[in-house]
Amino acid sequence: MGTTSILVSFLLLVLAAAMASSATTHDACPASCGNISIEYPFGIGPGCFRNGFEIICNSSTGTPSLAGTTQLVPVSLLNIKTAEARVKLPVAWECFDSSNKMYASSDGDVHFNRDDVYRISNAHNQLVVIGCNTLGYTQSQQSEGNGYYRYAYYTGCMSFCNNSGSAADGACAGVGCCRVDIPPDVTNNNMAFTEYNHTAVLGFAPCDYAFLVDRDIYTFHTADLNMNVNTTMPVRLDWAIRDGLTCDEAKKKARSYACVSTNSECRDSSNGPGYVCDCSKGYQGNPYIADGCTDINECEDKEYPCRGICENAPGYYECKCPSGYHSADPLNIPCNPNFPLAAKIVTGGIGGLFIIAIVVFIFLLGKEKRKMKEFFRKNGGPIIEKVNKIKLFKREELEPILKTNNRIGQGGFGEVYMGYLRDEIRPVAVKKPKIDVKLANQFANEVIIQSRVLHKNIVNLIGCCLEVDVPILVYEYVSNGSLDKILHDSHRMPLDLDLRLQIAAQSAKGLAYMHSEITTPILHGDVKPANILLDEDFVPKISDFGTSRMITIEENYTSTIIGNWGYMDPEYVQTGLYTSKSDVYSFGVVLLELITRKKVLDPDINNLLGNSLDTYTKKKGVIELVDPEVSAKGSIGIFHSLAEIIVQCLNLDVDLRPEMADVAERLQSLLK
Ligand SMILES: *[C@@H]1O[C@H](CO)[C@@H](O)[C@H](O)[C@H]1NC(C)=O
Ligand SMILES: *[C@@H]1O[C@H](CO)[C@@H](O)[C@H](O)[C@H]1NC(C)=O
Ligand SMILES: *[C@@H]1O[C@H](CO)[C@@H](O)[C@H](O)[C@H]1NC(C)=O
Ligand SMILES: *[C@@H]1O[C@H](CO)[C@@H](O)[C@H](O)[C@H]1NC(C)=O
Ligand SMILES: *[C@@H]1O[C@H](CO)[C@@H](O)[C@H](O)[C@H]1NC(C)=O
Repeated sequence: MGTTSILVSFLLLVLAAAMASSATTHDACPASCGNISIEYPFGIGPGCFRNGFEIICNSSTGTPSLAGTTQLVPVSLLNIKTAEARVKLPVAWECFDSSNKMYASSDGDVHFNRDDVYRISNAHNQLVVIGCNTLGYTQSQQSEGNGYYRYAYYTGCMSFCNNSGSAADGACAGVGCCRVDIPPDVTNNNMAFTEYNHTAVLGFAPCDYAFLVDRDIYTFHTADLNMNVNTTMPVRLDWAIRDGLTCDEAKKKARSYACVSTNSECRDSSNGPGYVCDCSKGYQGNPYIADGCTDINECEDKEYPCRGICENAPGYYECKCPSGYHSADPLNIPCNPNFPLAAKIVTGGIGGLFIIAIVVFIFLLGKEKRKMKEFFRKNGGPIIEKVNKIKLFKREELEPILKTNNRIGQGGFGEVYMGYLRDEIRPVAVKKPKIDVKLANQFANEVIIQSRVLHKNIVNLIGCCLEVDVPILVYEYVSNGSLDKILHDSHRMPLDLDLRLQIAAQSAKGLAYMHSEITTPILHGDVKPANILLDEDFVPKISDFGTSRMITIEENYTSTIIGNWGYMDPEYVQTGLYTSKSDVYSFGVVLLELITRKKVLDPDINNLLGNSLDTYTKKKGVIELVDPEVSAKGSIGIFHSLAEIIVQCLNLDVDLRPEMADVAERLQSLLK
């Protein structure tokens, strides 16, 4: 039993080998002539070509040409996929002597289409006639019984010259040269002329010419009025299997059907009768030979897009996102991690509720990835991931920005860089905090708080990167720097009263928004000029939410006092109870600095902040300290109102301080 089966499989093997060799008989045929590749149905030598497709090769010069012609027709391309051949065909011509007699001519015909497999490509060629006083035309497809006109197609054009200077280079529109499109189904290059009196033009145009030529290649030059009569012109031919059958008919005649490869298809010829073969979609190669069509490995071919994971399959390929990732169009749009539930919650606008925990797995492979994952976890990634307004950047996306010459700031908190994200036109500020375990909480705090606010007077957090030792924050870039810098920089730029009021009113709006316009109010906790940034139009943007807190029961009590002396609410220092009125106090100090242009540490300012003065004296003190640059310009009423606001903000009795929204409104009304 065992031996028989071995024997049988051996026989099958031999049989398979024999079949394979019969299927590839064309192996023995030359695959090229010179540097032109010759593929079946074309071939050189007996048994190598399908009837009508014979090529002869001059092996000493390496030039292939069509077989059976009366004159050599060199071939420069044989394309199986486009069913095209490029050849050179002679021009037709006739020349005249001084007695206006035609003494020599050629109709150009070389019988290149003996077996009728070719058609002149009507899409790629034109008929060109050159000469002075001639009409040149071609006729094609002899058809009996049509009376005087013996052909199915006539096409041509007339060329005339008034004198020797008439024709111009590049112009082929009837003067010295004319051209015309040809219909499909033209089978040969046989030309005819109608002669006119040439006596007057013999000096510069002794001959007439007519030819078919690749329309993309030929340009008329006046010198061509005298061209060599042995010139050949490049012509593009459409070939097809022209057994007189359409695809449907040919398929039924299995023996002569040319599309023999598996995964091949038949298509009726678009120029003339018959059909051509194509490899099916997803396959490439030669459909005219057995197993000639082979699978395209789309994953290795850049022409086939895939931004996800590419998997090749016979005849097609799949491009998918890895699980846990999605893309609306993985072929063209990169895959992003899924955040389906978070997206629903946010877009559904169920604000106020704490975001329900969603487990999102990020597939991290390899050791480096595990390390990044560890950082990610340590840096509060699992919390931040829930906040899907924030973009999570990969380390390598930010690395180009974190270069020394991009650094725009440096201090106790860390470093700030300015740069551009890939594919973005607007610059970003990248904040890289110092390594500090205590700051880790602050960091997550900042991200979460920032993600909840969207206001034109609050600096916009675009995203962060958690895959690094120290988490990195990416903000919109605010070009004019901080209010602190603008006010106290060594070369003080002038700041008129309107601008100062505008900065004050809009900063107040930003803070008011945080205090009262969002469902869970946020207290800033560190309001000071250094945390108010100004954009190119001096629109203020509140920044630095590291010390902010959301108001929840009990949580606004802090044991450690964070914040900046001078700006800090004295009541908070005493009780440890941080309220929205603490921000109001700090903002009062900012206002004071803004209109006096004196630092908070200035003794005059310090004196005003102390608790020994009564309201009236304080107000008077404020007005006296107003920056001389603006004091002359504004009405005294404005300064009175400003002083009033400032003194109220600085009131030691928390309950008597106005709300931020109130401050914002009053500042806004001063602007008008
Ligand atoms: C073949 O070689 C000639 C020069 O030897 C070159 O001009 C031509 O472009 C080549 N053709 C192909 C298809 O490589
Ligand atoms: C090949 O081409 C050369 C040069 O045109 C010619 O002399 C020679 O006779 C040709 N050989 C054949 C076999 O046609
Ligand atoms: C035509 O040719 C004649 C004689 O050469 C010349 O005088 C005349 O200007 C030409 N006309 C045009 C329109 O070129
Ligand atoms: C051809 O034109 C010339 C003048 O240009 C004229 O002399 C001659 O008779 C014409 N020939 C014929 C056959 O009409
Ligand atoms: C054109 O070719 C033929 C034969 O190939 C030759 O006899 C004739 O002199 C050639 N004519 C010119 C103008 O080169």
